[in-house]
Amino acid sequence: MKVSFSLPFLLFPLALCIDRYTRPKELILERDPNSGSCSTIAFRDTQVFRNLEQGESHVSKLKTVHGLERLSVIAHDDTTVLNKAYSLCSDFEALPEPGDRLSGTAPNAQEVLSPPEADGRKPKLKIEPLLRSGPSNNRVDLVFFSDGYLAEEKEKFIADAKRLADDISNNHTFNTVKPLLNFWTAFTPSKESGIGVGGKPKDTPYGLYRDGTELRGVYYSKPEVARAACLSMGDQCDYPILMGNDPFYGGLGGEFTVITPSLANGALVLRHELGHSVIEVGEEYDGGFAYFGVNALNELAAPIPWSHWLSPPPTHTHEANTVTARRRVERSVMPMQAYPWTLLNTSSPWKVQFSSSGQYPRHLARFSLSGLPSASDLSVTLDGKDLPWSPRQDIGIDRWHYDIHMNTSLSDGLHELSFQLKNKKLEGSAQLCSSEILEFGTEEEFVSKPGHYSLYPTFSETNTTSYRPTNEDCLMRIVTTPDFCKACLEGLWLSLLRRVDFIDSISASCEQIGVSPPRFNRVLDLSLVPLAQFRLPPEDDLQATARVPEESYTIRWFKDGAELEEFEGKTRVEVDDKDGQGVGLYTLEVMFKTEEVRIDTDGLLKSGGDFLVAETCGH
Ligand SMILES: *[C@@H]1O[C@H](CO)[C@@H](O)[C@H](O)[C@H]1NC(C)=O
Ligand SMILES: *[C@@H]1O[C@H](CO)[C@@H](O)[C@H](O)[C@H]1NC(C)=O
Ligand SMILES: *[C@@H]1O[C@H](CO)[C@@H](O)[C@H](O)[C@H]1NC(C)=O
Ligand SMILES: *[C@@H]1O[C@H](CO)[C@@H](O)[C@H](O)[C@H]1NC(C)=O
Repeated sequence: MKVSFSLPFLLFPLALCIDRYTRPKELILERDPNSGSCSTIAFRDTQVFRNLEQGESHVSKLKTVHGLERLSVIAHDDTTVLNKAYSLCSDFEALPEPGDRLSGTAPNAQEVLSPPEADGRKPKLKIEPLLRSGPSNNRVDLVFFSDGYLAEEKEKFIADAKRLADDISNNHTFNTVKPLLNFWTAFTPSKESGIGVGGKPKDTPYGLYRDGTELRGVYYSKPEVARAACLSMGDQCDYPILMGNDPFYGGLGGEFTVITPSLANGALVLRHELGHSVIEVGEEYDGGFAYFGVNALNELAAPIPWSHWLSPPPTHTHEANTVTARRRVERSVMPMQAYPWTLLNTSSPWKVQFSSSGQYPRHLARFSLSGLPSASDLSVTLDGKDLPWSPRQDIGIDRWHYDIHMNTSLSDGLHELSFQLKNKKLEGSAQLCSSEILEFGTEEEFVSKPGHYSLYPTFSETNTTSYRPTNEDCLMRIVTTPDFCKACLEGLWLSLLRRVDFIDSISASCEQIGVSPPRFNRVLDLSLVPLAQFRLPPEDDLQATARVPEESYTIRWFKDGAELEEFEGKTRVEVDDKDGQGVGLYTLEVMFKTEEVRIDTDGLLKSGGDFLVAETCGH
């Protein structure tokens, strides 16, 4: 997309920053997916949304509480936004009129058409930067909001948030896209410490609570307060994270990512839920119900979203080099999967029967547990035979995941998996969260090794099959893995690049190069998002070992159609303004390349624009 802008005059020696974009409009709605009825959360100006044509709109959807959805409709003008909203909603409560939109910049943004009392709902926020890479109107901003932290626990809150932000952005997960992100903390003291249990929130800003006492979901009871808090920050709040002050597993995805700072689980939940909301992908693990996005193939005959990442099949497979090899499916089956989320007792085990076809040479028992600090507290058996499991070191009563691989075939017929609590003192906290049996072909039929891209079957809660790119490379499947697979990582870049332009700013100025007679250079300064050759040096030795992707920026300048070759790759252009030679139409082309993006159908890796320098410097 070419953006044109002009400079009517330049005031020497002041540098003039060029406004590259008009801000698009965003209508945020809450919709009941059953009735289709909508109410307005906010109608505001929003930050850059790239490659959105005039008259075109973009809709994103996140789950919110009580089975509702939060829809965000973005377009360049009010009419397009409202027309799209009419097509999405059966009826409206308080649909705004085109003129209603307040040109919201950060400080006033909470006033943008939220109910009148919203202002009163907005908690006082103490906002501080955690990791800042650039201006919020050209970055994707993630904000940690505090819940269940007393005034005197503010330092703990900041330290918890810092640990999690570092965990998901140093060397792993979001590491390579970190220059596109800002992380903030927004502190509000709570009157009570910790989060509620038994469905009852404590006296905290967002009212976080667990349904029972067991470690599972953490919910919020004050969505309107959380919304007011995030909206009040404008461009500075793209993905709000509500962090409840509790040391153990728990969380929720959707409109608000809810997490705890659990040492073992906080970062796991955070990056998995952000994966859903930022990349807009579904699950990769078995037993879910939503499989969609760049990492999911639902029909074997459909185009494979990650076809450009596929690995060659093992060399001695017959299909190699044939067309069918492109549709090779790794051979596996799921004879049992369950999410019991059940508290265990010593009187009777939790057990399940399943049948095997006896046709697979390998199998796996996968389960997750909480409240079980030592191996002697629980016996896990398959057909009466002990499965040796041992708790992750220092896990205590927090939740963790266990895989027991068996390089043997399950026999044809019925089998039984059983979980027997041994330690009576743990009744009421020992919990079996999930359990699953998978069977696999030989390594030739099912490539289990990391880095292999193919079609791996994923089995839903109703045992329908979809396909994912890798066996276990992705945190969307294996939450204990800190990284995305390449298909998700590419999706991540492309999602973020919709909201971030490579050009942070461009400015024009004059520089005096001679006194008598006075002579000037016309100077253009370009500031790019710090990627490729402009990435900042690592802050410490640890970060110095972090993986850096292969990437580059190409920068080209043209004046009145002719390339200024000597400025190729440069962020500063100096043209001698003698006899008005600095006047003219300048064109900038920026092209970014990264090994992490192979296909860019929307042209998001390009940026640039035309702009006019109309005046000479000396006048
Ligand atoms: C799922 O379907 C496959 C194929 O029909 C079957 O072998 C397997 O046992 C089923 N698993 C479950 C959990 O029903
Ligand atoms: C013990 O746990 C089993 C398996 O979850 C359950 O069926 C049973 O009702 C429980 N017994 C008691 C006394 O809670
Ligand atoms: C699994 O068993 C097969 C066949 O018995 C053997 O060739 C292979 O090396 C074993 N693999 C492992 C990881 O033990
Ligand atoms: C980054 O990851 C690499 C490879 O996984 C590892 O060798 C290195 O120690 C890690 N560095 C940090 C800072 O964790």
